[in-house]
Parts: sequence; structure tokens; C-alpha cells
Amino acid sequence: MSLAEAAKRVAAEFEYPAVEVNRGVKEFLKEMEEGLEKDGTSLSQIPTYVTAVPDGTEKGLYMAVDLGGTNFRVCSIRLHGNSTFSLTQSKIPIPQSLMTAPAAHDLFAFLAQQIGLFLEEHHGEHYEGVRSCKSASGAPGYKNEEIFNLGFTFSFPVQQSGINRGTLIRWTKGFDIPDAIGKDVCKLLQDEIDALHLPVRVAALVNDTVGTLMARSYTAPGKTTTLLGSIFGTGTNGAYVERLDAVKKLVAKKDTSGYDPSTGLMIVNTEWGSFDNALTVLPDTPYDRALDAGSVNPGIQMFEKRVSGMFLGEILRRALVAMIADPEVALFASAHSGTNELSSTTSIYKGSKLLETWGVGSDFLSVCQTDDSAGHGSIRQTLVNQYGLHAPSAGDAAAVKTVAAAVGRRAARLAAVAIAGVVLKSGRLEGTDEIDVGVDGSLVEFYPGFVEEIRAALDEVEGVGEEGERRIRIGIAKDGSGVGAALIALVAGRLGES
Ligand code: BGC
Repeated sequence: MSLAEAAKRVAAEFEYPAVEVNRGVKEFLKEMEEGLEKDGTSLSQIPTYVTAVPDGTEKGLYMAVDLGGTNFRVCSIRLHGNSTFSLTQSKIPIPQSLMTAPAAHDLFAFLAQQIGLFLEEHHGEHYEGVRSCKSASGAPGYKNEEIFNLGFTFSFPVQQSGINRGTLIRWTKGFDIPDAIGKDVCKLLQDEIDALHLPVRVAALVNDTVGTLMARSYTAPGKTTTLLGSIFGTGTNGAYVERLDAVKKLVAKKDTSGYDPSTGLMIVNTEWGSFDNALTVLPDTPYDRALDAGSVNPGIQMFEKRVSGMFLGEILRRALVAMIADPEVALFASAHSGTNELSSTTSIYKGSKLLETWGVGSDFLSVCQTDDSAGHGSIRQTLVNQYGLHAPSAGDAAAVKTVAAAVGRRAARLAAVAIAGVVLKSGRLEGTDEIDVGVDGSLVEFYPGFVEEIRAALDEVEGVGEEGERRIRIGIAKDGSGVGAALIALVAGRLGES
């Protein structure tokens, strides 16, 4: 079997045809309903206590912080009230040791310190003025107007019980601090902020998808209101506008003190990363299974593990390693490496990232997708420079590209399942307006063709079809965790909750 044929055979393992997409959508709709009825389901369907989307007229100065992936972002946002805003921000990589720290305090103290440093650097005057205050969350010694209301974007599954209250259900995306599970993450942050006497009040707890939804609605006023905010980045998830009466598990509590029920709406955080954890409809290859077994959270976030940036590189890596191990397949095994001018034997250096669990990032899939040149020069160069390959051939690079494209395409088609599920559930296809969907995250930003593949799969969904697909407007919504979180902090302030 030629190398090209072998690559095609592995790529075929990642095929996700229309009939499977449709099975997926049906299951997604079923799990959406279940999640609205009770807690503890696969799709968590978490009520966010946010009951309206902005219209672009909102004003004021707010702070926002974002913990959700590789970086911690701290920003201040001035909303100008005309759909525009200005944003000052700093971005700090989160030390790996804190992602798996022994105690929640270690991580949250670090976050509070970063907030302090940001205030000193960017709001020095304001900061000095209120420096003497004892505590932002209630102690005397400060004026209310001196306190920054802060939107805390915390992009992990949280059981919310109010707009600025919520306990961590589980960690995802490589974080693992068991001590934090079951604790109120707003309180964890507020306590550390207070310990530093910072003039900051954690006013709202925000999932990044909710921020994305709000940011999209703020910046796109006058058009159709946004239905869905979604992230396809390190992790994946979506939040959408639901009818309040459909959120049965919340309505059943008959307690409306934490939100304003008059809009008749509630933004729901689906936590679709955990869609079909039971694997009744999700595609499942040996590479998916091995990845899951070697992850920090086996058996959960099964949809996310097939869709999001944190995992695609590792799926590809495992598929390539299986090819390398197969004596029938001549990947990275040519005695004279084809068009390589060095014309030497291809080999893999010991210590190559290709042989290391989590050694390949999803950025490599983007390189593969982008390089359409005859000899696949960029792919070969990346294999040499980043993945410890010696003299890979053009044939090797073409084989890698074939497999990488299949992994990326399957991810996009799965993403379409989730988007189609939300669109169908909303009933908006029965109207005539455009249906607005905000997306953000590294895959939509940097993986060429991701949104186009999503669209192609949406065409194939029963009940959406070509006509429906044309009515769905998918647009990048930047800064959800900045402006979106600020908007929710504003709503929280209005509710008098903060
Ligand atoms: C988290 C979600 C988050 C998503 C995107 C997932 O791992 O569970 O809360 O919205 O990543 O960041």
C-alpha cells in the first residue's frame, strides 16, 4: 500500500457523514431538553441569571478578568453607549503549576495579584485614591463610586445560583485543582481581592460563551438580536437565548430574586463540551479513545475532546504515531526522502514532540491546512523545526496533511451539530429574519476553512437545509470576555445584586 493510500485510509476513520450529523443533531436536541428539566444531565444547560441581551446604548467604566485557558486576562472597558468601547488589557500566561495547584488559594491569590498590578499600572490615580479602603465587598472605608464592578469570566462549568454566585462543577482543559470543586468561585476571588485591599467587587460571573453572546449583541445593534455565542478555542461551548418558561428546572424553584423575569428570557450556558459523554452518537476512533484514557478527566467532555483546539493536535499525533508504528506504512521512512535536496534518510530524533503525549498543538493543523504548495515546504519545515524530524519527504508531508485535514473537518462538522441543535430548538427558522451566531476562539480565527466546513454540514441538516443555512449569519465576536463581561457586570449593578 502506498503512503498516500495509507493516509487516505486513516483519514477515512474520521469521516462523519450527513446521516451521522443528523443522528447527532437529534441527540443534541434531546439532551438540550433533558438539561432544561433537571440538573446532573450530560448537557448541563446552566441558567446564567442573565435575562437580556444589550442593544449598544450601555455606558460606563468596568473591569473584567478572564480565566479560561492558557492566559489570564485583566481589562478595563469603557462602554461609550454607541455600540463602541475602548479596552485596556494585560495578558498573563498562567504558570502550569497553578493549573494543577494543591489548593484553590494558590491560583486565586495569583489572579488577585494580577488585578492589583493592572490597577497600579493602568488606573494608578484611581487606585491610589482608594488604596486605604479595607475591603471592596462590604467593609466601611470606601465610597461606592470608587469601586470597580468586575465581570469575572470563568470558563469552566459552574452551577450558578445568582449573577455573581456559582460553585465549580468540574475542571476542564487541563486544569485540575480538586480543592476548588464545589466552592463558590466568585467568593474565592473576592476573598483574595479583599486580602489585598483592592477597590474591586466581583459583580458578575460570566462564562466566555455568554460574554461572546453579549459582545456580539452590543457591537451589532439594529440587526437581528444574537441567538448564540459560541467558542471553538482551547475548549468548546455555547450559550443561547432561551424562553424563561422553557428553563423548567429554574422556574420550578419559584424564586425570581436573583434575576429579572420580566423579559421572559434567560441566557442558558449549554456546556456542550460534555454533549453525549455516553458516546451514543459521537464518532469514536482508537485515537479518540487513547486520548481520553490519557486525559486528566477520562469519560467527560467527550464532544470537546473531538472538537476543540486543545485536543485536535493530540488526535492527529496519535494517528500519525500509529502510522509510524505500522510496518506496512512508510511514513517518515523513505531511504531517500523524495524531493528533499539533502536526499538523506528520513528519521525521527529521540525526544521528538511527535512522540510525546500532548506534543502537537492544533496550530500544526492550521499549518497543514494552509500549505497547498507542491512540495509542502511549510509542513516539512515545521516537521523539522518543531517536531524533530530529519529530512521528511514531500510524500510524508502530503500524508500528514491528508490526516490533519480529516481531523479538522470532523471537528467542524461536529461543531455544526451543536449550532444546528440550538438553531432548531430556538424555532427562529420559522421566521424570516437572519439568525445571528457569534463565534470566537482560535479554531475559527486561525484554522482556515473551519466556518466554511461548518456551513457545508449545516446544509445537510434536516430542517435547516440550504435555505436555512443561508439565513444563519456566523460572525466573529471578539472580546467577549472583556466587553461581554463588562456588560454583564453592568446588568448585575442594575439588579442591585452586586
Ligand atoms: C468549558 C466551558 C467553556 C469552554 C470554552 C469548556 O472546557 O467547560 O465552560 O465555555 O471550554 O472556553
